[in-house]
Amino acid sequence: MSAPSAARNLGPILDVLLPRLPRRGDVLELASGTGQHIAALAAHRPDLTFYPTEPDPMRRIAIDARCKGLPNVAPAGDLDACQRGWAQAEAADAIVVVNLLHLISDAEMSILLDEAARALGPGCVLSLYGPFLRDGAYASDGDRTFDESLRAQDPGIGYKDVEVLRTVLTVLDFSLEVVDMPANNLTILARKGPDPRAIL
Ligand SMILES: C[S@@+](CC[C@H](N)C(=O)[O-])C[C@H]1O[C@@H](n2cnc3c(N)ncnc32)[C@H](O)[C@@H]1O
Repeated sequence: MSAPSAARNLGPILDVLLPRLPRRGDVLELASGTGQHIAALAAHRPDLTFYPTEPDPMRRIAIDARCKGLPNVAPAGDLDACQRGWAQAEAADAIVVVNLLHLISDAEMSILLDEAARALGPGCVLSLYGPFLRDGAYASDGDRTFDESLRAQDPGIGYKDVEVLRTVLTVLDFSLEVVDMPANNLTILARKGPDPRAIL
């Protein structure tokens, strides 16, 4: 199992994430899909332990197959990131989420962010990659078309606004860094605790 989109965005995601991962500890991925991102991250950082998770059982099999030769990757866990309570069993030093937020509702995203805030300690990072609205606006006509197709399938889902995320994550005590990515995507890097620049 292999996702063309993951093959395309892998390099840029590694470029942003690798320098921002913790020096040691555990990295949890939500919605790991085919496992392409976590396998590459784990190969680059043998000093960290990686925990892929994915609710789809066929994808969990694919993740385990892909990560078989990587001793620092745990078996894929069955985790629905939109169900309350998962943070109790999933303390982590970093959480990675690629291309999930536009596929869930606002209420589900609130649960995901709230649980991530509980799972992470001070200084730990939550990374959210995907397509977003910028202050209510689409980044391109292609984004509008894609979002409209998502909402036609399910009016409850679709692109989230980066400004809404900024507000919610600030309330949850994260400091934000937003990085422009290829194909109009963004990586929102939310670090738990106050912005270190505000302390200096
Ligand atoms: C577009 S794919 C992205 C997969 C992978 N992160 C990537 O970028 O290649 C979305 C993934 O989210 C998973 N997913 C859907 N709802 C979820 C939920 N509530 N909690 C966790 N994962 C979910 C799907 O099973 C699917 O693997």
